[in-house]
Parts: sequence; structure tokens; C-alpha cells
Amino acid sequence: MTLSTQTAQTARDDDSTAIRWERDESGVVTLVLDDPGQSANTMNQAFRDAIAAIADRAEAERDSIRGIVFTSAKKTFFAGGDLKDMIRLGPAQAQQAFDAGMAVKRALRRIETLGKPVVAAINGAALGGGYEIALACHHRIALDAPGSRIGLPEVTLGLLPGGGGVTRSVRLLGITDALLTVLLQGTRHTPRRALEKGLVHEVADTAEEMLAKARAFIDAHPESRQPWDEEGYRIPGGTPATPRFAADLPAFPANLKKQTGGAPYPAQRNILAAAVEGSQVDFETAQTIEARYFTELVTGQTAKNMIQAFFFDLQAVNSGASRPSGIEPRPVRKVAVLGAGMMGAGIAYSCARAGIDVVLKDVSAEAAAGGKEYSRRLLDKALSRGRTTGAERDALLARITPTADSADLAGCDAVIEAVFEDTALKHKVFQEIQGIVEPDALLCSNTSTLPITLLAEGVFRPADFIGLHFFSPADRMPLVEIIKGERTGDGALARAFDLVRQIGKTPIVVNDSRGFFTSRVIGRFINEGVAMVGEGVDPASVEQAAAQAGYPAKVLSLMDELTLTLPRRIRDETRRAIEEAGGVWTPHPADAVIDRMVDEFGRTGRGGGAGFYEYAEDGSRTGLWPGLREHFTGAGTPVPFADMKERMLFSEALDSVRCLEENVLTSVADANIGSIMGIGFPAWTGGVLQYINGYEGGLPGFVARSRELAERYGERFEPPALLVRKAERGERFGDVG
Ligand code: NAI
Repeated sequence: MTLSTQTAQTARDDDSTAIRWERDESGVVTLVLDDPGQSANTMNQAFRDAIAAIADRAEAERDSIRGIVFTSAKKTFFAGGDLKDMIRLGPAQAQQAFDAGMAVKRALRRIETLGKPVVAAINGAALGGGYEIALACHHRIALDAPGSRIGLPEVTLGLLPGGGGVTRSVRLLGITDALLTVLLQGTRHTPRRALEKGLVHEVADTAEEMLAKARAFIDAHPESRQPWDEEGYRIPGGTPATPRFAADLPAFPANLKKQTGGAPYPAQRNILAAAVEGSQVDFETAQTIEARYFTELVTGQTAKNMIQAFFFDLQAVNSGASRPSGIEPRPVRKVAVLGAGMMGAGIAYSCARAGIDVVLKDVSAEAAAGGKEYSRRLLDKALSRGRTTGAERDALLARITPTADSADLAGCDAVIEAVFEDTALKHKVFQEIQGIVEPDALLCSNTSTLPITLLAEGVFRPADFIGLHFFSPADRMPLVEIIKGERTGDGALARAFDLVRQIGKTPIVVNDSRGFFTSRVIGRFINEGVAMVGEGVDPASVEQAAAQAGYPAKVLSLMDELTLTLPRRIRDETRRAIEEAGGVWTPHPADAVIDRMVDEFGRTGRGGGAGFYEYAEDGSRTGLWPGLREHFTGAGTPVPFADMKERMLFSEALDSVRCLEENVLTSVADANIGSIMGIGFPAWTGGVLQYINGYEGGLPGFVARSRELAERYGERFEPPALLVRKAERGERFGDVG
């Protein structure tokens, strides 16, 4: 189909509108989404104005229109809501938010019910608002463009699809499938997967094919209507009147609780309510219900936190603030990964996936091959699920060369070391490669605990040496913590930053310190949970409190996974270092609990077959160890449940402020995004410092509550000077967006 620009003279078809009206000789109107001056189309004021004008014009010119095609002139079809607008909406703007949402809904509804065929030619990603526009069309054709995704990810920002997305997806798929496929998890589907799931009707391989299919649909359906506007329409799977739905309904609140752990995620609750209530009423009433639930979310604090976190992520990646300027990017071509264990194997896969050649070295050829096997398993699984092709799989595997021979590392322009956590061994493996890898190769260590500055002492070219802390499993975890040692040069930092971006992960940059930022701060959370056991708090309640605070892993089970001897060793080393430097070591109440667990009861965690939990022969958890309640009775002072949750959250937030004070952290965005992506700080908070911003009463409220906790539970809750100062000045921790 040619997109002839035979524009009529009535409503706003100039270039300044967000939607261009292009009508061809045959009467097919192409509505080109093309917000001028923006890189992507969003549901902003320009779009709201344009869509209302389009609806007016379509009604006025109805008789001369044969059909309508929505498509976009941008790379993506439509990006969704305008987050910068949304983040500014507070409870005082509730009516304004409601009205704006209803205006878009009304305009789309008028186009949908014009009595003419309306087709979505989805030329790129259609997420959120983009897929909502497509849902208002009678026929959806997606171009199978690389990286293109389709879905309603609003929930991941603490929102619900407020442009008719709940109302229509429920009517398209049925309540159960709509909730599970698009609404509750916010899954982003590839075009092919979207086709399988019934989210689109057709997939096209080229833009021409997509537009030809759009025209064919219009030719074949001159009076198209939505299924839900047909006589006698019923929601697929039925509403509570049918047996299937009646059987599913009671399970939803339980599933929801499982998904959120009972943590404060109002979006899931509102989505469920909007879907169920909306299914009981006519289309128009359902849209109003959806708008009400949307307004409640968009004007509330959780969505603000989660949108902030989205901006923090962009800032960590894009602002370049943490990357020294003036250093030419130089993509890595060939990387040496030293150590093919759990971390090395995942790192090798991540690099090979990004097109980098990998030499994976271990002590024996078998060990190295075992590391490559990990990639093979991941790829075979992806292949069986249709997420990769045989050719892609083979190409990726061909990029990984396992070896036990250092000579194979010739030509590597970057090195990532992931051998056992042992200073002498790490020094030795760097010595082995000296003179073999490129003379200016970037030298990285994936150490999780050893200070980079100390490690650098045994590494040739310390200026090129830097910490690159991946999280487990390295192929899936999106964060990499870059640790700058005292002697690390700007060139190495810039190259490390670029390498993390090259493999598609989010970098945060911190200065060297014991435990860096992430390990240090997650340690506070674990210690707090363990300390409560020592005080005689019911361990099941401690676990419950972690879940309800929104942590993805319960605190005592996490401790068992990490093993109890690891924090003990780190603690003893830290104490020694502090005392040797003439400092004063302050013990934590958790220390005594861990010592007793290990020394008195021989319980070292999951690896040792016994920890805070009991384990069966096959390693599966069978329940909390009853001995905890018997042996750890504390003073018996009851700890309110709200305090349990806040002790965990506050201990991490307060220590993050100390990391800022001590210059371990230099960016608020890095703290927030690092805490969510790296160490499971609850996503609803927007991150460890945004949690303080969003706390009831803001920073002064947080300071007051910290003092209360300090009085009850110990000095570690005393607010640091930086926090107190900011609270007094009415400041916050660096909002962006
Ligand atoms: P691992 O024990 O699974 O693997 C270590 C590998 O290094 C083994 O395959 C071993 O054969 C190999 N190795 C030992 N000596 C070698 C040598 N001379 N040359 C080449 N390879 C040699 O250990 P994992 O868990 O992969 O940890 C590796 C590093 O990553 C450690 O420094 C650890 O602290 C760090 N790390 C671990 C995380 C985790 O969750 N396991 C998370 C982040 C960092």
C-alpha cells in the first residue's frame, strides 16, 4: 500500500500534530503516529489533543473513509505513557489524571465504533499505551522486527494499563488469560509469541507485507466491528457465572500474595479488581472503573517510586556521569575469562551473547569444557522454547574456546578473573597471563569481597586493574558493580563501563571499600534478620516480615544459601583490618548468633546440610530448625511486626547513606538501581535512597523513625549526619525524571 499524502484540509493534518492523517485515493486513511521532535511516541498532551481531533475528523468524513490503519514513523510503534508527566501527579491532581485518561479512552472508542475497519500495523515495540491503541483496533498485525516487544508492562511501574488495556484485554482473552498473559506480570512478548497468545492476529516479515495485509483486511471486512460489540458477545471463559471462572476466582488473591509476598504492591491488587469488576458491567462502565483504579495508582507513592527507579536505571546507564569523559570507546573483541566455575561460566555466556570472542580458561581442559557446557545447556533450553535459532546457538557456542593453556589467551583485549576467592591465587593467575594478552588489555576481577586496592598490589599494570562484580547467576542478573581501586586509572574505568554496556548490563560505579556497596549493604539486612532470632523473635515471623517488606528472598533462607561461615570470615578479616589501622570495631548483635550456630550447633547453612533451616538428603528445605526457638530466647521483649520489617529496610537505607558519606557511593541513581537489581531491595520502594524520599513525612519522618528504632534496638539506627542535614534543609536524595 502506498502511503500517499493526499491530505485533506480539515482537522490538523499539519506536521505539528502527533498523528498525521494520510488518506489515499481509495479512501484508506493511514494514521501515522509521529510526535514531532520526540524520538518516540508517548501518551502526552500532544497525543491526547491529536487523538481527539482524529476522532472528530473520522466521524466528520466517515462516508468517504474505507478503512483506517494505525502505524508509526518512529522505530517503535508507540512507547506508552509519558512517565515524566505521570511522576508529577499527586493526590491533588487526581481529577485531572482521571479526565485525561477518560479523554483518550473516549477518542479511541469513537474510532473503534465508527463502523469502518481499523487495523494496527505494529511496526516496532508496542508496549503499554502502544498495545492499548492496537487493542482498540479490529485487526492487529505485528512486524517481526528484531527486539520488538508487545505487552502491557504497566505493572512493573506500579501502574495499570489505563488506556482501555484492562477492559479490552479481558474481553479479548478472558479474565484468567488476560491476567496471566499480559496484566499481572507485565510480560513483554516477541511478535511470534504475541501471535501464539492471541495478542495479535498476524505477523509480517517486512513492512510491505504488513501494510499489504492491512489493506487485505480492510478489503475483506468493510464493516468491521470488535468482538465485544457484536450481538450476544460473552467474555471468553465467562464471568463468575461459568464453572471455569468460578473455579479460578478464589485462587487469584492467593496467587497475588504469592507473587508479591504480601508486600505493598497496590498495582496487582487494582489490576485484579479492575479486571473482575469490569467484567461484570458494560464496556463503558468498565472503562470508568479502570480509570478510577488507574488514577489511584498514578497519584500514589509506589508508582512514583517505581517510575523513579526506571529513571535511575536510565541515568545509571545513559548519563555517563560515572564514566570519565574524553576517552574514546573501544569495543572489546576478545575476552579472557579466568576460572570456568559458576561465575566464569555465566560471564562467558554473557560476553559471547554480545558477540565477543571468549577464551575460557581453567586448570584443566575438562574443567574449562564444563564451563562451556553451561552455555550449551542454556542455549538448548532457549532453543526448545523457541527463544533462539539453531544457527544463533551454534554461532554463540563457536565464540567460546575452552582451554587450560595460557598461550590461547593471546590477542585478548580484556581479562575477567573469576577463580576461587583467594588473594594469592588471584595474583598468580594474573602473573600467568602477563605478556600473553594484549599489552594494554583491561584487567578485571570478579572478586566479591577482596578489596580492589589490596588486590592491585599483586597485579601488573595496577592502573588498568578494576573490580567487575557480577551477580549470580551472571547470565541473568542485569547489574554489574564496577569497583574503582585507589590506583585504577580513568581509562580502565571508562573501558570497564563500556564493556558492561557492551554486554547489555547496567553498570554502577563505586569506590573501593570492604564489601563495596552491594555486599556491604545486603549484609546489614541479613544481620538484622539474624539479630532478631537472637532476641527471641519467632523465626517464622522474621521470614514473614522479610516477605511482607517485599524482599524476594527471605532473610534466614538467604543466610543459609550464602553459608554462615562466609560472613564470619569476612567479619573477622574486617575486624582485623580495622584494629590494625587503629580503629574501633563495633560488634553486631548478629555475630553472637552466627558464632553459636556454627561453633555450638555445627550448623553452617544449606551447603553443610543444616542451618537456620533443616534440609532433606536431596538438599531441599524441610522447615525452620526447631532448635532456634529453644536456644535463642533473648530477653523476650516483643518486637512489633512493623518494626521487624522496618529494621530490615532501615538498616540497608541508613548504611547506604553512610556509603554516600564515605564516598563509596558517588551517585544516588547508582544506589537505587544497584539495590534493586543487585541485592533484592524491594522494588516498590524505588531503591534504597528513594525509600527514604518516599517515606511518610519525607526525610524528617525518616530521621524521626530512625531515632525511635535506635532507642529501641541499638545505635546502628542513629541517622547519619548527612541524612540529618538534608532533612533539616528540606532536601531529598537526587530525584531524576
Ligand atoms: P567456583 O568455585 O564455582 O569457580 C572457581 C573456578 O576457578 C573453578 O572452576 C576452578 O577450577 C577455577 N580455578 C582455580 N584455580 C584456577 C587457575 N589457576 N586458573 C584458572 N582457573 C582456576 O567459584 P565462583 O562461585 O564461580 O566464584 C569465582 C569468583 O567470583 C570468586 O572470586 C567469588 O568470590 C566471585 N563471586 C562469586 C559470586 C557467587 O555468587 N558465587 C558472586 C560474585 C562474585
